[in-house]
Parts: sequence; C-alpha cells; structure tokens
Amino acid sequence: MKGTKFTLERWSIVGFSAVTVGMMFAVILLIYGVDETAMRVAIRSTARTSCLLFLSAFVAAALCRIWSNKFTQWLLKNRRYFGLSMAVSHTYHAIAWGGLWWVTSGLSPQFDPLGILGYVFLFAMTVTSFDRPAAWIGKRAWKILHNAGMHYFWLAFTFEFGTKIFKSIPIYLPLTVLLVAAMILRLVSPRMQRKLVV
Ligand code: HEM
Repeated sequence: MKGTKFTLERWSIVGFSAVTVGMMFAVILLIYGVDETAMRVAIRSTARTSCLLFLSAFVAAALCRIWSNKFTQWLLKNRRYFGLSMAVSHTYHAIAWGGLWWVTSGLSPQFDPLGILGYVFLFAMTVTSFDRPAAWIGKRAWKILHNAGMHYFWLAFTFEFGTKIFKSIPIYLPLTVLLVAAMILRLVSPRMQRKLVV
C-alpha cells in the first residue's frame, strides 16, 4: 500500500513487547492463581511469544532480500529491537520457571544445562547489541556470537515444538512450519539475490 507507515519503531517495539507479554503473564496469574499450573502455562506461553519475536529477527534480512516492500524494510530496520524483545520475553520465561521452582518448593524444574547455555547466549547477545560492547569484542567475534546464538535458538525452538506436533494441541505444527520456512528462506535468499544481480 502506497504511503503505509509503520509507526512502531525501535525501543517502542521493545516497550510494546514488554507490556504485552507482561499483561499476558498477569492474566494467566489472575485466571489460575499463583500455583504450578499457572507457572507452567506462563512458561509455555512466554516460550511461544519468544519464538515469534525471535523469528521476526531471524528472518528479516532474508525476507527483505526476497520481497523488498515497506513491511519487510521495517522488519529489517528494527530487527535488533525484535531480538531485544525476544530477550525481554525470555526474561518472563525465566521469571515463570523461577516461579515454578518456588511454588513446587524446588522440585521442578529440573536443572537444564542446555537451557542455561541458551540464557548465556541470550545475555551475551543482548549486551553486545549495544554499540560499545559490540566494539569491544570486534566485528568477527560479534558475527560468530550472533550467528551461533541465532542458530542455537532455532534448534532449541524447532526441537521443543517439532517433537510435540503429533501429540498435543494444534499450536505446535504452525510454529514448527514457521521455523522450518524461516530457515529455508535464510538458505535460499542469498542465491536469489545472486540470481537477481546476474
Ligand atoms: C534460551 C533457553 C531456552 C529456550 C529457547 C526455551 C524454550 C522453551 C520452549 C520452546 C518450551 C516449550 C513450550 C511449549 O511446550 O509450548 C519450553 C518449555 C519449558 N521451559 Fe524453557 N527454554 C529455555 C530455557 C529454560 C530454562 C533454563 C529452564 C529452567 C530450568 C526452562 C524451563 C522450562 C520448562 C519447565 C518448560 C516446560 C513447561 C511445561 O510444559 O510445563 N527453560 N522452553
């Protein structure tokens, strides 16, 4: 649409995500009370919001390469803020599993080293998305860290959702399809660009 302007930009995307996911968390607590079910619902819901925010950042460049329009340009320009929004959503995920640990008196969740590694990536990527820490580590290390982290998250989400597509509610199949489609787009988009140049 000619003249369409996306007014949600930069930090307002992060603020909007923080408020929206926070409200979702509050509604879950209002509905279920502060108990184990509430914490588990909150863990699953925040994992899904994180996945959608992650996908927005993960696929932005590929989408823009293949279909350059106002929306994909907006996504690309703001992908850093979608990444930061994913970090915010995953902070709620951490609050929820902290809450689960509290309401079960330490019985759940089990120690999850791969999950902890995910948070190490998330922390390092969040810090280095600011200019000064990014300059400290240098361009090469920044690229390695962010590439490794993004692919680690893709694997984590695809494994978590992909292993549940046949046995649970119909949210897992669309999420898995989105994750696989995003990876395919990232893989084919450089070739498509080369073709366009030739
Ligand atoms: C960055 C790292 C992590 C990622 C990407 C991640 C992502 C996910 C995903 C995708 C799910 C499945 C949600 C669903 O079934 O709809 C999940 C569930 C869960 N996560 Fe995480 N997670 C991470 C770290 C952790 C950590 C460190 C813990 C705590 C030890 C944790 C605790 C849980 C629990 C307990 C569930 C299952 C909730 C239930 O079904 O009752 N996660 N996570």
